[in-house]
Amino acid sequence: MLIVYFSHSGNTRRLAACIQRLTGGDMAQITPLTPYPQDYDAVVELARQEQRRNVRPPIAAMQPDPAAYDTLFLGYPNWWGTFPMPVAMFLENYPVGNKTLVPFCTHEGSRLGKSEQDLRRLCPQARLLKGFEVRGSRVDGAEPSVKAWLSELGLI
Ligand SMILES: Cc1cc2nc3c(=O)[nH]c(=O)nc-3n(C[C@H](O)[C@H](O)[C@H](O)COP(=O)(O)O)c2cc1C
Repeated sequence: MLIVYFSHSGNTRRLAACIQRLTGGDMAQITPLTPYPQDYDAVVELARQEQRRNVRPPIAAMQPDPAAYDTLFLGYPNWWGTFPMPVAMFLENYPVGNKTLVPFCTHEGSRLGKSEQDLRRLCPQARLLKGFEVRGSRVDGAEPSVKAWLSELGLI
C-alpha cells in the first residue's frame, strides 16, 4: 500500500502518518513545484482561481513510484468542496487504472465534499473504497476512528 497525500498546513500530513503507523504502508507526498502562499487569504483566493480554471499545477516526481503499488490511499484537505488541483495533477501523471483507491480528507466542516464524485469521474476504472474524513483540528484524536475505518475496509 502507498499512502499518497497533499497537505498545505500539516493536518492531512498528520492523518497520513496515522494511517502509515496503522497499516505499515509506504508514504509519498504530492509536492507542487511552486509552493502555495502561507498567507491564508492568498492561498484561498489562488485555490479558488485554480479550481475555476481547472488548472493542473506542476508537481515534483513522486518517490516511491506509485506505479509499483496496487492500493493507493489518497489524502487531501478539502479546498472549496473538493481536493486541491495538485491532486488532479497527480491523478493525471500517475494514472490509477484499476487499482484500489482509498480517499481520506481533512476539512473544517465540509467533510469529503464532492471529492469522491470527482475521483470517480477522474478514475472511472478504480476500485474506490469508502473515504475517511475528520476536521483538521481533530486529527490528533482521530486514531480510534481511523482504526475502525481501516478494519471495516479490511485493510488492517
Ligand atoms: C484554500 C482553502 C480552501 C478551503 N476550503 C474549505 C472548504 O471548502 N470546506 C472546508 O470544510 N474546509 C476548507 N478549508 C479548510 C481545510 O480543508 C482544513 O483546514 C484542512 O484540515 C487543511 O489541511 P492541511 O493542513 O493538510 O492543509 C480550506 C482551506 C484552504 C487553505
